[in-house]
Amino acid sequence: MIKNKVLEHSLQQTIKVYKHADEASLYVADKIAQLIRKKQDLGELAVLGLATGSTPKGVYRELVRLHQNDGLSFQNVVTFNLDEYYPMHPVEDQSYVAFMKHNLFNHIDIPVHQIHIPDGTLSLEGIQAYCDLYEQKIVDFGGLDVQLLGIGRSGHIGFNEPGSLQNSITRLVSLDDITRADASDDFGGKDNVPTQAITMGIQTIIQAKQIFLLALSQRKAEIIKKALKGEISASVPASFLQQLEHVEYILDQEAAAFL
Ligand code: PGA
Repeated sequence: MIKNKVLEHSLQQTIKVYKHADEASLYVADKIAQLIRKKQDLGELAVLGLATGSTPKGVYRELVRLHQNDGLSFQNVVTFNLDEYYPMHPVEDQSYVAFMKHNLFNHIDIPVHQIHIPDGTLSLEGIQAYCDLYEQKIVDFGGLDVQLLGIGRSGHIGFNEPGSLQNSITRLVSLDDITRADASDDFGGKDNVPTQAITMGIQTIIQAKQIFLLALSQRKAEIIKKALKGEISASVPASFLQQLEHVEYILDQEAAAFL
């Protein structure tokens, strides 16, 4: 039995607060697994928007476990990742391609051609057309059934940093200083962290049929308060989600400390 607290929020948005981070991850993984199985029963594809970073690792661990121990198949799953550093080669350890393979794709039966991650190797001139195509592919698959989000201490979702507009779509962006500082361990120093990235836009994200924003640990408490209770503004891009009905905020107690 999961012990959690469901807080009332404007617009009937759900905020679930779990005592332990693992419980929060299990809840999200179970929701994703249910969607995949429901779509299998209907003979349809499940279109998942996926995130990287430390936050979703527990979700992926559980999905791998469900595949290995519980027969959950990903044959009918199509994925679109939120973002990738630019420039970035997929063989680099810090690439989100490597992250996704290591944490999920290498351990499940998803067909490789059903995986989409923004390409960090493009020439600058080719990026806009590529981003437009990324958007179009999501539409061609009928849109994202679910989007999994973390939140950066800058307030970003995907790499939509402060200043990102609500109608933004997939594009090349500059990374916020906080984001680069937070990534410095992965790159052996902040100076080595790329200054740019390709990211889905806010509009791309909010068009998903269901959104789970997962935030774990004390490090996220301050930005979670701003994003959920503060003014809706481009200075905290995650605050745009306050206007939506189809968002669930899944938090551990530490991330919810200031709510
Ligand atoms: P983190 O990153 O999960 O590594 O804290 C979250 C994010 O930047 O979205």
